[in-house]
Order: sequence, then structure tokens, then C-alpha cells
Amino acid sequence: MKVIVTGSYDESCAVVAGMIRDLVNEKPACKLGLATGGTPVPIYKKLIEMNKAGEVDFSQVHTVNLDEYCGIPGTHDQSYRYFMDTNLFNHINIDKANTYVAKGMGDFEANAAELESKVREGGAADLQLLGIGNNGHIAFNEASDHLISVAHIETLTESTINANARFFEKKEDVPTKAITMGMGDIMAAKCVVLVATGLAKVPAIKGLVMDDVITTQNPSTMLKMHENAVVVIDKELADAVGYKA
Ligand code: GLP
Repeated sequence: MKVIVTGSYDESCAVVAGMIRDLVNEKPACKLGLATGGTPVPIYKKLIEMNKAGEVDFSQVHTVNLDEYCGIPGTHDQSYRYFMDTNLFNHINIDKANTYVAKGMGDFEANAAELESKVREGGAADLQLLGIGNNGHIAFNEASDHLISVAHIETLTESTINANARFFEKKEDVPTKAITMGMGDIMAAKCVVLVATGLAKVPAIKGLVMDDVITTQNPSTMLKMHENAVVVIDKELADAVGYKA
């Protein structure tokens, strides 16, 4: 695992958007694992600009998203399908048939199995983008005494529900369950890029970059075992955790 410290969050997003642009240019039919949450939004904005400027062509790219809430349809403005369409897919030249976000409605077990088959289809993702939860969760693999390798249904922790309540009208509207890629699915990606910013992420990032401990209580720490994982943090966050490059 490698840590990159940038001068600002905007610079972090530019660095990561640049990595994705370069990968797509090198391998036009690549497979990207994509993430939701507030953190990647400026990365997607930059990719839209690059696509409009003719710097990158998404016409042959396939994508699979990390996760989706259980119980809300893809048309709901807080579903991750809606997020991906409005923050990225609707604005770039990707074929939406080549984009996959797990279904949040119907038979959740079957939806998780379908996500697992999409993770495997065509081989491992060339790049998996990740944010991180305040408790160190990645995708929706929650801090717990155990982790699950494959796609599954996860019960969200109080910490995650509280953090994600800002996107909903009221906390009670936040779904309590989600379908998520498992830890093995994420670790199988050829390259994993985790982006974090903001002081709420200090405890999680401290556990990730400041020691060699791997713990299920901070799922992100599994990335320490990935030989091609990159953590991109800005100076403000690096200083707050005491990380020196
Ligand atoms: C959700 C998502 C994660 C994301 C996390 C942090 O729980 N399932 O993939 O990393 O939120 O989001 P944010 O970037 O908004 O802090």
C-alpha cells in the first residue's frame, strides 16, 4: 500500500481523475469499480470535463459499483444508481448498458448474488475507487468482529446511518441495510485507490496509515495487504493524523 499526500482535496481529486483518465486511455475497454458518497463527486466532475474536452473516451468502459441501499429503487434520488447517473454516467459517453449498480429492490439475496457475478464477469476490475466511512468501513463492509469476502447484505451501523443521514430528509429515512461488495471482491481489484478528506476521517485514516495493524474493526486496514493499493489524502488530513510522507 502506498500513501500520496496532496496539497488539497481538490488536488487529490485531480490526481485520482488523472489516474482514471490514464488507465482508460491505456486500456479503453477497462473495468472500473466505482464508489459513491460525497468524496468522489469532484473526481467525477473532473472526468466529465475531461470527457467533454476529448481527453478521455468512456465508450468501451465497463463499470461495477460497490454497493446499493436495500429498499429504495434506482429512481429514488438517494439510490446509488441515481447518484451514479446524475453525477457521472448521464454526462459522459459511456454506454449505460455497461454500467452496473446492484438493485436495491426485490430479492436482496438474489441481488447480492448478481453483484458478485458482475464483480467476476470479465475478470478483476482494473481500478477500484474507494471512499472511507468515519469508522473505517469501505463500500458497506462495516466495522465488526468479522468481515465477509463476497457480495452480501450488510446491516448498517449507527455511525454509518448518522453519517449518511445528511443526504436524507430525516435520519429515519436512511435504509438500515445495504447490498455491498465483500472484502475479497475489493481486494481482487488490480489496483485500489482510496480517497479521503476531512477531519471526520481522522480515526479511520490513522488506523490505515499510521501502523501495520490489520483489524476488522477498521475494514480499510485490509488494504495494507494489497500490493497495488493507493491512499490519497490531503495535507490537512495527513497533518491531523500525524502522517509524514
Ligand atoms: C457510504 C458509502 C461508502 C463511502 C462512505 C463515505 O457509506 N457506502 O462507499 O465511502 O459513505 O462517504 P463520504 O465520502 O460521503 O464521506
